[in-house]
Order: sequence, then structure tokens, then C-alpha cells
Amino acid sequence: MTAPTVQAFFHADSGTWTYLVSDPGSGAAAVIDPVLDFDAKSGRTGTTSIQAVLDAIGAQGLGLRWILETHAHADHLSSGAWLRAQVPAAILGIGEVIREVQATFRPIFNLGDDFPVDGSQFDHLFRDGEVFALGAIDCAVIATPGHTNDSVSYRIGDALFVGDSLFMPDGGTARCDFPGGDAARLFRSIQRLYALPDATRVFVCHDYGPGGRAVACESSIGAEKQGNIHVREGTGEQDYVAVRTARDKTLAMPALLLPAVQVNIRAGAMPAPEDNGIRYLKLPLDRF
Ligand SMILES: [Fe+2]
Repeated sequence: MTAPTVQAFFHADSGTWTYLVSDPGSGAAAVIDPVLDFDAKSGRTGTTSIQAVLDAIGAQGLGLRWILETHAHADHLSSGAWLRAQVPAAILGIGEVIREVQATFRPIFNLGDDFPVDGSQFDHLFRDGEVFALGAIDCAVIATPGHTNDSVSYRIGDALFVGDSLFMPDGGTARCDFPGGDAARLFRSIQRLYALPDATRVFVCHDYGPGGRAVACESSIGAEKQGNIHVREGTGEQDYVAVRTARDKTLAMPALLLPAVQVNIRAGAMPAPEDNGIRYLKLPLDRF
């Protein structure tokens, strides 16, 4: 199976890995989970982080074809809309269940009927099992709901981009207590990933350097099956759900949940400016 070139960019503020994936033969490229810089204290956004990815694309003469989101993130704002504006030919895609995420959050943020919940803010909605190409490299979409209901994993050649469905083995898995999350569904999604060849390279969306180790981004299906602290090969569904549910009860809400969801259900676009020309994000009180 063809091996794409994978370059990882770490966004330290949110612990997020953004990936630049390319076909060495054709130079066709994809960016997975691009991040928008955001300072919640000042409300200031920035593109320094994603500009570094764009610069790498330019320096290497790559052609950006795809901008791929693994899910509607709750811990960082997406720069997908900004990146597509810089490269209009690129296709901005996410799993089709983003529609359900939009339908969940539209009433919470009182976005009204003119906020579409059909996923039309994105260029393409992927269904489970859909295949696509990155140059000469075959790619497939694996629906992996559980952390969120819209989560998907992208297999690009021998490389698998799992979003938050798996962390590095010593980090386990992501929380399942957001609206639409479900630990039992995540367990079943992970079994689908574990059915892939052990040599499949796994690239995670987050790492927080547990135990003080340096941050890391690459694992493998074999390493996860052997050593994932939450779900090894042979771990039972009920045991996993018990561990996951107990841990979720100890976790505080992510600092950027409310700003992130409002932007990310818009594909990384900001709300329209009000009549004074300023854009606002909302803070629903006593809802979460
Ligand atoms: Fe996430």
C-alpha cells in the first residue's frame, strides 16, 4: 500500500496535531484538522499556526486538494474556512453526521432557521466507507462515532488519521461525555480500527505528554492493540465503558468548548458581523 508523506504541526495552546499529508509522486496534499489561533481572554483570532502549514505547502510545491476535519472539535477553533479561502480549489470535508451536531447546537445557541443544519457550510460530507484519492494514493473514510457522533477516521494509504478516537497508547482514548458522545459506540468504533493491519500508522489529533514525556503523534494499530491503557485487544466493552465513564466524571469542561463549537459547526467561519461591524460569539448561561 502506498505510503503518503506525513508532516505534523503541533498547536501547543490546545495540544492539537495538524497534519499535512501528501502523495510523493504527484504532490497532491491534504491538511487534516487545521487550527485557528484563539485567545479567549482578548477574543483575538490568529492564523500564525495555519500559515506555517500553508508555507510548507508552498515551499514543497504541493497542491492542496483536501481540507479534512475528523469531527466538530470542542477544544480548538478550526481554520478550515480560512484555509479554503487561501486555496479555493481545495475541498473542505467532514463526516456527514455533522448535520446532527449542527441540529443539536442550533437551538442551544439560538441560531435560528437561517442557520442551515444540512452541512452545507462544508464542500463535502463523507459517508461511512466512502473512498477518495489523494493523487495516486487510495483513501477511505471509516465512521468512528463515540467521542462525538460525527467522528470519522481517514485512511490515506497506510496512514490512519483517527481524530480523537484513539490517543497515543499511554493516553488511552478521548472523553465521550459531550452531547452526542457515547462510550459504547466508541468501543465499537475502535474495534473497526483494530481490524486494520497492525502495521497501519496511526496519527492522533491530540497529545498532552502524559507523565511528562515529550509530545508524540504517531502510533500504530499493533501498538494500540498491545498497549492502549483504556482499550487493548481483548478488553471487553463493559470494562471499557466503566473506565471511560468513571474518568469522564472527573473532567472539567474544555476551556474553549463554547467558542469552538460555534465556529466549528460553521466549518471554521465566524458568525456574521452585527450592525456595528463586530462579530460575536455567545456564552449560554447555566446550560452546560
Ligand atoms: Fe475532539
